[in-house]
Amino acid sequence: MEAKEKVILTGDRPTGRLHIGHYVGSLRRRVELQNSGLYDKIFIFEADAQALTDNIENPEKVRQNVVEVALDYLAAGLDPEKSTLFIQSQIPELCELSFYFMDLVSVSRLQRNPTVKTEIQMRGFAGESIPVGFFTYPISQAADITLFKATTVPVGEDQEPMLEQCREIVRRFNFIYGDTLVEPNILLPDNAACLRLPGTDGKAKMSKSLGNCIYLSDPADEVSKKVKAMYTDPTHLQVSDPGHLEGNTVFTYLDAFCSDDQVNAMFPEYLSLQEMKDHYTRGGLGDMKCKKLLMSVLQDTLEPMRVRRAEFEKDIPAVYEILRKGCEKARETAVQTMDEVRKAMKINYFDDAALIAEQAARFAK
Ligand code: TRP
Repeated sequence: MEAKEKVILTGDRPTGRLHIGHYVGSLRRRVELQNSGLYDKIFIFEADAQALTDNIENPEKVRQNVVEVALDYLAAGLDPEKSTLFIQSQIPELCELSFYFMDLVSVSRLQRNPTVKTEIQMRGFAGESIPVGFFTYPISQAADITLFKATTVPVGEDQEPMLEQCREIVRRFNFIYGDTLVEPNILLPDNAACLRLPGTDGKAKMSKSLGNCIYLSDPADEVSKKVKAMYTDPTHLQVSDPGHLEGNTVFTYLDAFCSDDQVNAMFPEYLSLQEMKDHYTRGGLGDMKCKKLLMSVLQDTLEPMRVRRAEFEKDIPAVYEILRKGCEKARETAVQTMDEVRKAMKINYFDDAALIAEQAARFAK
């Protein structure tokens, strides 16, 4: 049997500029995977249609953010020559595949999807007032993944239930119609701090509505300001007091961004981040010193992105052109998979000479 192609697919809802939580949770990994040369195809897309499922009161927000997210992608180092960057709404085959997937999933299975469950609660959709499109987005997300025969989906842990549901749909489809679609694997961040980066205020999640984000496109002085105001350990009042690492956002960010070499380069008295943490816990290490290190490592990461972003911002029509070409390229795979799907489902009537002959014979009797 010929070896299965290795295909990466992942995406983001374009509802705002991307922040450092997106970066450590997924974007940084994508760039590494892209540059590893280990994958046959890489698809990165903007889930604008999915964004509409819970932003219907503000479709213009989604439209405006398509180019912002594209700039973030390019700034972070995604290279359109290596990764196909595209927009979900421009791939009609996604609707077609979702339509057939709808027959493979029950209402109760969707209700049990933990992500859907919490989002229903969070957004306060009372009972059955939830939009159908929102309720069924796990199905459309399964189409996103399988239309491109993705083998590897790098996402945050909040997407685990979506992947599980996608695998179920694939198994069901292949059982009914024969082996056609590919079961994807999730690729989670390897570092616990990156799984879900808290906001600068220490709250569980970085989110625009909480105003606790550091954006990839924030200017340097804005980043410094946000780091200075960051939540640390409220019981660590004097430098000499013993400090706590648990829930201390500065140390969580250092875990996500800072290597031992970077610690050592700035503070030669520590050989590793762990030694610095030990000092903090013992007492005698001030928050400002820790924040200074964090500012420096964040600037090291963000500055090259700002430079690249500024270049792309000079020619916005070219950014749209990159996306347009990406959509065209993505559709080549989409059309190919949909042909296989129709064939497996035996709804490719006009290409099915045996069917036509068989029916002709039946009526000739
Ligand atoms: N649901 C994802 C998010 O909110 C975005 C997304 C849509 C996605 N379709 C996908 C991610 C397919 C990975 C694969 O971030």
